[in-house]
Amino acid sequence: MMPRAVAFTSAILGLFLLGSLAPAAAFDQRSLVSQKCAGCHKLGVNGISAVEEIRTTVEEWAVIVDRMARLWDMPLDAGDMDRLLKELTATQSLSPDDQRQVAYLSLQHNSQQMEVPEGEAEQLLFTACVRCHSAGKIYSYRMTPERWKKLKTFHAYMTPTIYFQLREMRWGEVADKVLTGLGTSHPYGQAWTAPDTSAAGRWIIVGREAGRGEYRGEATLTAKGDGDFAMQGSREFRDGKREDFMGDATLYGGYALRTRTRHGGSETYGAYILDKDEVTGEMHYPAPRFRTAQERWVPASSGARILGISPSYLVKGRETTVRIQGIDLPDGALSSDNSALTVKQQRRLDRDLIEVVLLNEADTYGVASLRVGSLEAGKITLAPRVDYLKVVPETGRARLAGGAHVPPESVQFEAIAYSNGASASDAADDVALGPVPAQFTLQEAATRPGDDDLKWAGSIESNGYYVPPGDYAPIPQREYGQEASGWVAVKATYEDLAAEAKLAVTVPDFVKRIR
Ligand code: HEC
Ligand code: HEC
Repeated sequence: MMPRAVAFTSAILGLFLLGSLAPAAAFDQRSLVSQKCAGCHKLGVNGISAVEEIRTTVEEWAVIVDRMARLWDMPLDAGDMDRLLKELTATQSLSPDDQRQVAYLSLQHNSQQMEVPEGEAEQLLFTACVRCHSAGKIYSYRMTPERWKKLKTFHAYMTPTIYFQLREMRWGEVADKVLTGLGTSHPYGQAWTAPDTSAAGRWIIVGREAGRGEYRGEATLTAKGDGDFAMQGSREFRDGKREDFMGDATLYGGYALRTRTRHGGSETYGAYILDKDEVTGEMHYPAPRFRTAQERWVPASSGARILGISPSYLVKGRETTVRIQGIDLPDGALSSDNSALTVKQQRRLDRDLIEVVLLNEADTYGVASLRVGSLEAGKITLAPRVDYLKVVPETGRARLAGGAHVPPESVQFEAIAYSNGASASDAADDVALGPVPAQFTLQEAATRPGDDDLKWAGSIESNGYYVPPGDYAPIPQREYGQEASGWVAVKATYEDLAAEAKLAVTVPDFVKRIR
């Protein structure tokens, strides 16, 4: 037992310490962050130095914690990473809206997002920084101006070749300028306060998997405590194919939901944002498939509501079967506020799904509001015709396999139908109608005399799915013994329309961790 006088003094001391640190200290002494990190990162008025001057995503926190162990010998036992990430993201997280901007980096997939600089300041940032990693990595951070500035010496130490590699500029001077700008454009602000939400419950899912189409489904999450959930559910594609899935999920910072599930024989991963009682995000298959699906989840208990109309457009003169999906859809006929629209048939498939056959006879572009009984169902676009197609991604990037541990990386192309909108001459009012089942082929995109890339690129599936054949290895029959890399065109045709995209088949990325 502690002598009374000592206990009294330490209580006073404790109060004094608490008092002086209370405003900013997010981590109390019992937290693992405090125990693991405060040894090297000193406690200042703003809490644990570096740690409480940075807010970022759970994925970037994992990179930092891993570096502390890998380079600076911080002991990291089994289970520590999980605990640390939960503690760190409770206060050192982005806001959900800021996270949404960089969500394309949350998954471990072959992101096809093309980062294009806008304006002079960003141009400079791309020249000095977006060379070894993405702009999204930088935009995943919010820091104090002092911490942003420290990134200059951080890079000089981590990648000392930076000055020579970027010798077309005075890297140090440019970095100073860029980092000062980031101090203002991406400030630390204040610690994040995790909302007291839970992902537990039954959710209704509407989703779309590129290359396979739309689906609906459900997921039930059961709380296991400490932000962890058991998860199971199913999804059903429009062609009737059904898949069950099960696995685990973790909610970080009260909103960033990460899932690890098995769909049939495949492992799948999801990154979602739980905000305003809805979950939105993506899930994907592992390499080489890397196919992603966009999903929206709403609570099954949220009362009668409509979640989606698909397709979301009607081309003039074609009877189109449209599905209206929701929760507890009312009985009652479908009606619209546009007299050019006729309901030819209506049938209820189940409590949550209605199928209608619609005919659009409008000569001009327009929008109709639909109702089912007393419930507003949303809007549907009326287009005189599909005017043109666009293929996404505009430039796909696939990677050759790099041996047993580095599988190839695929690309899923899609053809999107467009309407010229109200004015045929004004491109600004053009409207993306939605994906169409186009037929895809590869073609040569000649960039040099005797260009033979197509010959080695293999083929694309008719639904736009491409996986590079072969390994990263010299091909003796090819000029210079080049591997099966290349630059080819991807052509999509749908009815009498066609559109093109480009495909870069490149070498494997052996440095997986830096995005
Ligand atoms: C053994 C000493 C040591 C421990 C323990 C340690 N760090 Fe670090 N930390 C460093 C060093 C050295 C740097 C500067 C170089 C770097 O960023 O890797 C650093 C830098 C950082 C940075 C700044 C990165 C940036 O972009 O400016 C953060 C954030 C950080 N550490 C977080 C943590 C967290 C969280 C823990 C506990 C889980 C931790 N550190 C534990 C040594 C340590
Ligand atoms: C020569 C390559 C290179 C260039 C150029 C470069 N970076 Fe980095 N950067 C890296 C590497 C490598 C890492 C990851 C280090 C690690 O985690 O081991 C990194 C990490 C980061 C991080 C994460 C910090 C952390 O603690 O993990 C930020 C933010 C960042 N860089 C910003 C920038 C900015 C801003 C610029 C331009 C001023 C820039 N980078 C230019 C190579 C580069």
